[in-house]
Amino acid sequence: MEQTHFDLVIIGGGPAGYGAALYGASAGLDIALVEKDKVGGTCLHRGCIPAKELLETAAIVRTVAHAGDFGVKVQPLGLEWSTTLERKQSVIDKLAGGVTGLLKNRKVTILDGTATLGPDRTVSVVGGPDGSESATLTADAVVLAPGSVPRVIPGFEPGGPVVTSDEFFHIPGVPERAVVIGGGAIGCEFASTLADLGASVTILEALPKILPGCDDDVTRVVLQTFKKKGIDVRTGVAVTGHSPGAGGGTSVSFGEGETLETDLVVVSVGRAPYTEGLLAEGTGVKITDRGFIDVDQLYRTGEPSVWAIGDVIATPQLAHVGFAEAICVVTDILGETPVPVDNSRVPWAIYCQPEVAFAGLSETAAKEAGYDVVTSKHRFGGNSRAVILGQPDGLVKVIAEKRPDGSAGQILGVHMVGPWVTEQLSGGYLAVNWEATVDEVAAFIQPHPSLTELFGESVLALTGRSLHG
Ligand code: NAI
Repeated sequence: MEQTHFDLVIIGGGPAGYGAALYGASAGLDIALVEKDKVGGTCLHRGCIPAKELLETAAIVRTVAHAGDFGVKVQPLGLEWSTTLERKQSVIDKLAGGVTGLLKNRKVTILDGTATLGPDRTVSVVGGPDGSESATLTADAVVLAPGSVPRVIPGFEPGGPVVTSDEFFHIPGVPERAVVIGGGAIGCEFASTLADLGASVTILEALPKILPGCDDDVTRVVLQTFKKKGIDVRTGVAVTGHSPGAGGGTSVSFGEGETLETDLVVVSVGRAPYTEGLLAEGTGVKITDRGFIDVDQLYRTGEPSVWAIGDVIATPQLAHVGFAEAICVVTDILGETPVPVDNSRVPWAIYCQPEVAFAGLSETAAKEAGYDVVTSKHRFGGNSRAVILGQPDGLVKVIAEKRPDGSAGQILGVHMVGPWVTEQLSGGYLAVNWEATVDEVAAFIQPHPSLTELFGESVLALTGRSLHG
């Protein structure tokens, strides 16, 4: 490689890193991106995308299973797992090709190797297709975006029947029985997928509730629907170990001496920042006690002109937050006016069935923050489109600040659970982040019949008058 100096060198090619590369290149920066595995990172290769692809397989299974309700007769239902995995891989490959193509079109130099940051924004790269190449780059600015890895629990290291999200997408078939440790976003998505595909699933969650951060009304709907699917949700239980038996299965010990025989154990207890080998001696980049790279509000590290973004810093571990942080940092590099992400108002989308989506404060969080609130809750059972779809379970809940006269003022949170809510959040997200009031948002029209009408109805009802709600 002839060129060794760039405006910007980015370490890590996941959403945060490739987002910085695409946005920076579109603004005219000359950029090198170093990736030791595959461009696209966790999200594309072993996270969001394959998880949603398998959830879509689960949705097809549900649709076919209920086809008879619509008078559509289908053959007996069967799952050809090899085709399922092939389709998942083809989706990943297509999207990976798309990202790489975009980077190349914008003249981003992609280096295949492992990068280490040294003093004075020097980045040494070791790798290449056969591991024998090395290069030393310098840059005016460096962005660290090395991502995260699944956390493991001692005694539940991956191997045999125990998997993390890294291995889950390659399991040889749908197990008869599965234990999912951790009831966060990943755990709920995997539990939902496995149950819809026919497995008998138990979630073991250490905290008193699953999906921490969600509004209680939302969690209640998830629990009811999970129960209908046959998912056994056990909360407030700690796992203590497991003993593999003959035949590939294992016996998981948890709680007060309870055990559960299972064919698959999915460990989904969070993700840890990944900084192994990232930093040489002599940089001002600091790592916190929890292993995250320490940054200020604008994602600047302790080393001049070195930023860190994505899962490696202590902000919500979401691909779209990585994109937003990337935009903020590039804006800072360009000497413009960077606007950091307001982490308390980012959009959350969890794709289990029922889907969950929210932005802003839950009712409990709003009260804890000292707000006097009014809420409005409307169920999909009364929404025409949801009834047509045959998916009436779920609700939309809007949390607004209560004015001194008792009327509803600023919208503080929008929380949804039910059919396609991950595609319906944008109106609520805008309302929360625009700091809009109930009266302002109630004036907007939603198409009829549509699922988004329920958000419109929920806001309208907070004005004290309503149509259907
Ligand atoms: P998480 O932190 O959201 O949830 C992990 C859960 O495991 C917590 O409820 C925790 O109490 C529980 N737990 C921890 N140790 C345990 C133990 N020993 N036994 C039983 N339960 C235990 O982490 P998750 O679900 O692994 O996701 C990782 C990150 O990726 C999160 O930040 C998540 O938000 C993000 N993510 C987001 C998705 C989405 O928004 N659709 C999808 C997948 C991941």
